[in-house]
Amino acid sequence: MNQFPSGFLWGAATAAHQVEGNNVNSDLWVMEHVQPTVFAEPSLDACDHYHRFAEDIRLLASLGLNTYRFSIEWARIEPERNHFSRTALEHYRRMLAACHENGVTPMVTFYHFSSPRWFAALGGWERAVSGDLFVRYCERAARHLGDLMAFATTFNEPNLPMLLRWMKHIEIPVTTVMRMRSQASRATGCDRFGCFFLGDAHKLQDVMIAAHHRAVSAMKSGPGDYPAGFSIAIQDEQAVGPKSKRNRKCAEVYDPWLAAAAGSDYLGVQAYTRCRVGPKGDLGPEPGVELTQMGYEFWPEALEACVRYASERVKAPIYVTENGVSTEDDARRIEYTRRALAGLQRCLADGIDVRGYIHWSLLDNFEWIMGYRPKFGLIEVDRETQRRTIKPSAYYLGEIARGNRIPDLAGTR
Ligand code: BGC
Repeated sequence: MNQFPSGFLWGAATAAHQVEGNNVNSDLWVMEHVQPTVFAEPSLDACDHYHRFAEDIRLLASLGLNTYRFSIEWARIEPERNHFSRTALEHYRRMLAACHENGVTPMVTFYHFSSPRWFAALGGWERAVSGDLFVRYCERAARHLGDLMAFATTFNEPNLPMLLRWMKHIEIPVTTVMRMRSQASRATGCDRFGCFFLGDAHKLQDVMIAAHHRAVSAMKSGPGDYPAGFSIAIQDEQAVGPKSKRNRKCAEVYDPWLAAAAGSDYLGVQAYTRCRVGPKGDLGPEPGVELTQMGYEFWPEALEACVRYASERVKAPIYVTENGVSTEDDARRIEYTRRALAGLQRCLADGIDVRGYIHWSLLDNFEWIMGYRPKFGLIEVDRETQRRTIKPSAYYLGEIARGNRIPDLAGTR
């Protein structure tokens, strides 16, 4: 019963902007450096993964993991509109080759929150033309990289802007956001700087769903033959009280994208926590429940609930493409992972078609506006020396991956 199905993928994930370093041509880099900014600190060198990917992929494989989920960076591949960098594409070919040399399955995300600054200066995802621009980038990148890819993901968490509208307990001063945006517009000489996190969530949703379908075809037009899909952010939404807005929230935040997944080859599920929803919306953490560094409830059972929610609405196979916890206490990461995987076992026992578990994250990295403080990594990174130190949780997950089973399931609910 502790056993996972044979061929189950075990991996860890990163995203280009969070680990590569010096993503200077991206929209986020602009916003990190204007004043005021909502970013706690700029990304700068990050984990220098751009130069150290070979060592990092070797480390991942040495732990016993067989899958690496990472993103390619549009801002590097198309640094100016219509100008594609062969050198950047070659860089990602080397990353893919490093995966194969280490027996690691590469899962490639084409868009993980960051865009070229020129794309943001055009207005970003709110502009109808954005779909065409994204599809063309996907076509070009897939043509160059497709023969080495094993999975293609159009978007990472495209439903996040909609989810953020509900997350009231995240306190981001609106005036600072507005001023940051106008400074970013000035810095790039445009009227309305359009970053993924700043757009109108409804407009973004329509444009991105349409772009997703076209991008999947574009990704499949080149060499290689791989499943294509996207990864959705889901929380375990729990209704509190008879007038809870839980169902309305799910209908708004998840269901349009889950409907869009109907034709996909797979669905990536990304789950971290639960959320209690009352008559006025999100209630925030329940007093007394342990909190993570992100301020989320420590709630590993969310994974099971989210996989079940998705599987009831989407027929495609499910891969858990992100799950993890931000904590300085690595023993809590082990506990979180153990309980999350036990939940996945229960899903499998009920016949749900889950085919992989990818932990977030391989490395301690740049956690967007929160900077480097939250620690999600299986591997610690010393940002002065760039030295990597493997944490016990990495060995723990590696042992599970090697045996394809959870050794210490006893005691898990
Ligand atoms: C994102 C990651 C992020 C993680 C932890 C997900 O929303 O895909 O980029 O670092 O959650 O917050």
